[in-house]
Amino acid sequence: MTTAELNAITDRIRSSRTITLEQLSALLDTADTDAVEYLHAQAREVAQSIYGTAVFMRGLVEVTNYCRNNCNYCGIRRDNAHADRYRLDDDTILDCCRTGYEHGMRTFVLQGGEDGQFGDARLVALVARIRAEFPDCAITLSFGERSRDSYQRLFDTGANRYLLRHETADARHYAYLHPSEMSWEHRMECLRQLREIGYQVGAGFMVGSPGQTHATLLQDLRFVAEFRPEMCGIGPFIAAQHTPFADQPDGSVEQTLRLLSLLRLLHPHVLLPATTALGTLHPRGRELGILAGANVIMPNLSPTDYRPKYSIYDGKICLGDDVSHCRHCLEMRIHSVGYQLVVDRGDFR
Ligand code: 5AD
Ligand code: FES
Repeated sequence: MTTAELNAITDRIRSSRTITLEQLSALLDTADTDAVEYLHAQAREVAQSIYGTAVFMRGLVEVTNYCRNNCNYCGIRRDNAHADRYRLDDDTILDCCRTGYEHGMRTFVLQGGEDGQFGDARLVALVARIRAEFPDCAITLSFGERSRDSYQRLFDTGANRYLLRHETADARHYAYLHPSEMSWEHRMECLRQLREIGYQVGAGFMVGSPGQTHATLLQDLRFVAEFRPEMCGIGPFIAAQHTPFADQPDGSVEQTLRLLSLLRLLHPHVLLPATTALGTLHPRGRELGILAGANVIMPNLSPTDYRPKYSIYDGKICLGDDVSHCRHCLEMRIHSVGYQLVVDRGDFR
């Protein structure tokens, strides 16, 4: 594909938002590096036209690695007896938020496995404390599939956003990635409920997950273009030891960057993180993500002694680095590509 042809395609994407299968196929698979560079440049331009050169920080607190689910890719799946399980207590979680606040974070993401100990009573109390202490911050939750009533109560208590990656927009692929007791339809239903309740919703998927094909990726792109989640988290699949997919090849950094750019063009306002998984597979992965159209970074606020235990995949970066170290590291990295970390909630515009 020539750059001129690509130009015509991206113009059509941006003007009509209707994309044919063939057009997308070309962008994901082309061997023309000029065309790929052009794709990234277009995505950057679109991101900058909306968010400027700001990069938003979301402080991530990994509150529990207990999980009732058994996802085939995930290192903290129920059947991984090697996982050293932990739960943070509420005071520790509050302390993580305080440290994050001191380092300029105005969004806290509380994430955990589907842990029965984090039922509504406990989570509502926790969200209430964070809401009271940090009235100027956004609270994002990521605790998997819960009842509509639970989502509603957490929202009413002050949670603003919810991350629930759809993982794949193809029901058969979903069944390959998950045990039979989990269902794609239920996941989609949860996303719809979160949206109806009024959350800013984050969907997302892994790039290069086992069984993923060109066709399933196109479905992911279509899903994002239609559902228009406020956030979309994508990162490469990275094999996790002691899981059914331990011997599967990692996803590709290159393909992740192309998908970031495509998502930016398809859904210009989306908040798009340059994920830790991307930074794990490439020493400058997060910077490259920003240059491909991402505009969010998620520094880890979890206490360093617990971080190695939240090992959803192998080789995760920043395990021993305290918050001020990561903050400075990110500042440098983001600056090096011409962007700035900002002290801002970073709401969807
Ligand atoms: N590699 C990359 N990403 C993973 N996730 C879970 N396991 C892995 C893995 N092995 C992602 C899933 C999940 C998010 C919290 O982390 O998409 O939704
Ligand atoms: Fe944590 Fe660089 S971001 S060490």
